Amino acid sequence: METSLNLGRTSFGDPVNKGNVMSTEEALALLADWVPNEKLRLHMKQVGAVMKAWALEREGLPPEEAHKWWLAGVLHDADWEKFPNDHCRVIIEELERRQLDPSIMQCIASHGPKYFGVEPRSIMDKMIYVFDELSGFIHASALVRPTRYEGMDLKSVLKKLKTPAFAAQISREDITDALGRIDTPLEEIIQFILAHQPSVE
Ligand SMILES: [Fe+2]
Repeated sequence: METSLNLGRTSFGDPVNKGNVMSTEEALALLADWVPNEKLRLHMKQVGAVMKAWALEREGLPPEEAHKWWLAGVLHDADWEKFPNDHCRVIIEELERRQLDPSIMQCIASHGPKYFGVEPRSIMDKMIYVFDELSGFIHASALVRPTRYEGMDLKSVLKKLKTPAFAAQISREDITDALGRIDTPLEEIIQFILAHQPSVE
């Protein structure tokens, strides 16, 4: 099956809608409606939680800005289950219809430059790209441990990252590419995810 997920554009939303967001309840309702797969829902909630924590703690942003980071994280794969051949395009168009702040759609469009043809620009864009793969990798690492997240440390994650056969579907190349766009080293990102990622929905 040959499909292209390239979005064919690099500008999203309308600047007049700056500041418009969905409520937490609206976003979770969309997720419940569009994403029956609970593993995928958990992944999006994990990315959302880490994005929000980073915005607040590391970027020092106010809660209303951090909410946009959460929305982008929690919705970034919302169309993946039902529209795999049109992934990213469908959720972006839905959020454009709902007249959300353009930064949210720009961020969602940035979570896979190789696939969607959109280069991450803002720090919000760059962080979703970093967290998407690494959050999923850390979750996969937790699932194979008897105590799951409990007691999992940086060393065990780094070791698994260097084992190509472990969670082979998670692209080490994408992780390296994403990290090359920010100033924070891999070790610090892993520690941050371990400290902030919820283990269940
Ligand atoms: Fe994702």
